[in-house]
Parts: sequence; structure tokens; C-alpha cells
Amino acid sequence: MNKPIVTLAIASAMALPAAAQQNVEVLHWWTSGGEAAALNVLKGNLEKQGVKWNDMPVAGGGGEAAMTAVRARVTAGNPPTAVQMLGFDIQDWAKQGVLADMNDLAAKENWDKTVPAALQKFSKFGGNWIAAPVNIHSTNWIWANKKVLAKAGVTAEPKTFDEFIAAAEKVQKAGFVAIAHGGQPWQEATIFDGVALSTGGVDYYRKAFIELDAKALASPTTLKVFDRMSQIRKLVDKDFSGRDWNVASGMVISGKAGFQIMGDWAKGEFVTAKKVPGKDLLCYRFPGTQGVVSFNTDQFAMFKQKDADKTGAQMKLASAIMEPGFQSAFNVVKGSAPARSDVPDTAFDDCGKKAIKDVAEASKNNTLVGSMAHGHAVPASIKNAFYDVITRHFNGQIDSKKAVTELVSASKT
Ligand code: GAL
Repeated sequence: MNKPIVTLAIASAMALPAAAQQNVEVLHWWTSGGEAAALNVLKGNLEKQGVKWNDMPVAGGGGEAAMTAVRARVTAGNPPTAVQMLGFDIQDWAKQGVLADMNDLAAKENWDKTVPAALQKFSKFGGNWIAAPVNIHSTNWIWANKKVLAKAGVTAEPKTFDEFIAAAEKVQKAGFVAIAHGGQPWQEATIFDGVALSTGGVDYYRKAFIELDAKALASPTTLKVFDRMSQIRKLVDKDFSGRDWNVASGMVISGKAGFQIMGDWAKGEFVTAKKVPGKDLLCYRFPGTQGVVSFNTDQFAMFKQKDADKTGAQMKLASAIMEPGFQSAFNVVKGSAPARSDVPDTAFDDCGKKAIKDVAEASKNNTLVGSMAHGHAVPASIKNAFYDVITRHFNGQIDSKKAVTELVSASKT
């Protein structure tokens, strides 16, 4: 008697489409060893919640190529669900009204209280949460191979720009590459962040590169910054052109080079290579910028979706990003500090602990400034115009005097 009913039930169940698995398509530029390892922590956490991760990597340090890819996708009416973004880029997309509002989740999880104000400036637009910050990176760091330095007779941390140049010259004379560098505009701009802060101090940096004050930009300090960039140019190897930043990190890791001037994503490469701070590598603030932090924060912005399932998956991703345990695990691997002020530093190595402490102190002392090179000082159009001047100067196409004049014009782009 029951048999036909059961058969019918099974038959109708089989006819139903399987419930669609929630998924997120994540566009990012994290393709180096350290970056990919960090991203895998997020991917793993999300997949544990049953959300499928569709990876959309767009290689290219600093994210310029990724941002071009995003523009193409949006123009084609097919925006990715989640995108890694930096500072002013987030604000630019928010202005166009295409980013999803995360206010409900932010209120439920108290993001207002746990995310530092300097980050919220970029995560919110018109008072609404439109991005979830995953880290705080900073650009004014130097990474060094301890053994190479010892062989070259560099025994103390250089505390001033001149001491740094003297140390790098020693490394060069000892037969190593002094400064491992990749000749790409964003990498030169990253060095420029540190040199500008070291030469003019935090007030000059703010005036010139955040407020775009013409007097500060045209000042003798900027001339000196460019002259110092030329000093650094003499300490890189002849094959620097076009080299990727992680290849440059590899030169320090393998003992071919002494130093790399790079943001703390470089530490992700050291961690992946199982190198230990204090033993194999040394990390210090760009000489002359002690007490100051030029920061950038990677955030994930979600493009508005019509499909409720996709929105649900987006919020799961945002919630996974903001989870304190994840913020610790991810940033330990990535080389950055957590984007929440309530994450303990216990799991971090010495450089990571220093990063967390430096950010907290700089924030208290008002010496935490947005990185020009990484999209946290000026909008992308001006940033790119600055890149162009800095790179042409670094490659000897214009002298320091001309570079200053051009920088002033670039600020009006
Ligand atoms: C930065 C980004 C970092 C790192 C780096 C090199 O802009 O904030 O997370 O990925 O580029 O790609």
C-alpha cells in the first residue's frame, strides 16, 4: 500500500534541482608565495562554511592590473562578487553607488568599535560600511639578510638615511647586490614613501602628498628627496628593470642581496621560506622614519548583486574576514598587522609584534599616515601621475630639479 507513495516521493525528490551551492568570486592580486598562502587561510575558512571560492587572480604587485580588470568587468555588466581594493579605489567605486552596504553585519559584529578610525575612513562611504578591512600593511620598512650584513661588516641598524647609504655601500663593496629592487613604478613609489618621510618628516609628507600643498611639493625638501632617490639608484643591480617585488625579496632570502626596501608583504615571502626574524632576517623602519608609519590596508569590497544567495555568500565572506581568529592567522602569514585593534599579538613573530606596536603608537601620536604609493594619500589619477615622475627620475630620464617641477604639475592632474 505504502510502496507507490514512497516511490513517488523519491521520484519527485530526484526531479528537484539540487540546492545551488553558495559561492563567491574573489578578484585579487595575491599571487606571490606569501600572498597566496595568506589567502588560502581565508579560502579554507569560507569553504568550511560551505561557500565555494571562485578564484580570480590578476597578477601584478600593487594591484594596478587588477583594478583594470575590475573596470572591464563592471563595464561589461558583470562585476565580480568580491574585490581586493586599496583606499581611494574603494571610495571611487562607492561614489558610483555600485558597492553593497554591509551596515547590518557591521552593526551586529561591532566593527565601529574594533576597526581603527584611520581604516574606517576608507571602509565607509557616507557613513555606510562598504568594505571589510583584512590588514594594516605599511610601506616604510627595510628587510635585510643578517648573514650578508655580517659578512659585509654591517653590525648595527642604520638609524639615519646617511647611515643606511653607508651600510648599503659596504654590502656592495663586499660583492653582494646592496639593494634588491624591482624596477616597476609602484615599487619605486614605495621607496619614495620612505625617503620622503625620512627627509621631510611626517608634517612635510602630509602637506606634500596628502594635502597636495604646492609650496611643500615645490620645496627644497622635495629636491633632496629626489637626490636621495638617485643615491639609492646607484645601489641596485643592473638587472632591476621590470623585476617583480617577490623576486627581489628572493634575492635577500637567498643571500644574493643585503637589503630590500618594501612594504611588510615582503615578510610573507620570508615566512613562506621559513626564515626567522633576528636569526635570518632583520626588519627595521626605513632609517629616519622611526615612530612613523605609512600605512595601506587591503579591504574587500562587494559589488551589489541581484541574487539573494550571492549577497548571503558575500556577507559570509565579510564576516569571515572580520573574525578575530582569522585576522591573527591571516596576518601572521601575510606580514601585516590585523585590521582590528583587539587582536592579540601572541601568534606573531618579532617583526609582526613590532608592526602591531608601531601602528598603535603611531595612531596615538598622530604619526600614522596613508601611503601615497599604495593608494591611501591621493586618488588613483594623481597617484599614477606621481608614479610616472618618480619612475622617469629613477631611470635617469629627468634630473631632480625637473622632477620637482613635474611633481607639482602631477598634483594638479
Ligand atoms: C599592496 C598590497 C599588499 C601586497 C602588495 C604587493 O598594494 O596592499 O597586500 O599584495 O601590494 O602585491
